Amino acid sequence: MATDEERQLEAMRERAHAELEHLDTTEALEDWRTRYLGRERGELTAVLKGLGKLPGEQRKIVGQAANAVKTELEALLEARRQAVQAQERAATLERERVDVTLPGAAMPVGHVHPLSQVMRDIARTMKAMGFQQYDGPEVETDYYNFQSLNLPPDHPARDMQDTYWIAPGQILLRTQTSPNQVRIMESMRPPVRAYVMGKVYRNEAIDASHEAVFHQVEGLLIDETCTMADLRGVLERFAREMFGGERKIRFRPSYFPFTEPSAEFDVDCMSCKGKGCRVCKYSGWLEMGGSGMVDPRVLRGVGYDPTVYRGFAFGLGIERIAMLRWDIDDIRQFMSNDLRFLRQLT
Ligand code: DAH
Repeated sequence: MATDEERQLEAMRERAHAELEHLDTTEALEDWRTRYLGRERGELTAVLKGLGKLPGEQRKIVGQAANAVKTELEALLEARRQAVQAQERAATLERERVDVTLPGAAMPVGHVHPLSQVMRDIARTMKAMGFQQYDGPEVETDYYNFQSLNLPPDHPARDMQDTYWIAPGQILLRTQTSPNQVRIMESMRPPVRAYVMGKVYRNEAIDASHEAVFHQVEGLLIDETCTMADLRGVLERFAREMFGGERKIRFRPSYFPFTEPSAEFDVDCMSCKGKGCRVCKYSGWLEMGGSGMVDPRVLRGVGYDPTVYRGFAFGLGIERIAMLRWDIDDIRQFMSNDLRFLRQLT
């Protein structure tokens, strides 16, 4: 014959079973555990704590039954907990599903600035012809930028290049890459095959074809036998690498203080192949730069014996090459950092 305690225990057991079946979150399970098995307020815990008040025989029976229920409920809880956790994990996986077969989001890729593209081409071309690249300072002395190039202080040709002075008469922003001719020759003995690329500065009124900062490339070759025919060959190869096809070079007599003889050189127009068009202003030719045989006074200045050594030099603007290549009509575009402009040119 069951006692009240036993009947109550059985009722609690059934209630706990029934409730547990419907619970489907970790929080609800924890709440259930506290209510039945919790150390402080658990119903079953209370029964076990109250055993001491029961008479001997009764205490043993109820105690065994209560402990059996406890073991059973703990096992049930653990089973339910595992089921709920599996459900929750499955739900999370479903919610955070990633389709690894979808195409990735494209990363924007930058562009090489058109001037850098041209400079890379120049470097490749000059290296292929055996010229080595050098660098020189943009803040230059009057000596290297002018005097060593046969431009003494009152020389009228100084006016051809309006100068940004840092210390008037002494320190300036280089107006040309030519001072590197002297710097390179001072640093080595012949033979020399060198080129320099970089910024030059001129204090000019800025317009579509004039910038205060632009870039030049300077070439220099010194040995015992070279002639203007070699210069012409180098310039022609250069022009063909820059503009493609069977470009031709023509010399026009000119004057530069550091070359003798001096020549400006033109390339036949790549747009009309020399027939005459808008690009070449209907002349068939495009002005490219200055050149000549290095003046004996410049050679003497660096300690080269001009009766033994001779050489040629040339210099030209890099923006001009890029403008012709991509039909750009305003030199200011290069420094504008306008992405719409840069993206067009590849
Ligand atoms: N430096 C000259 C200028 O900026 C260009 C030039 C002319 C360079 C003759 C040379 C040269 O090397 O031989 O106008």
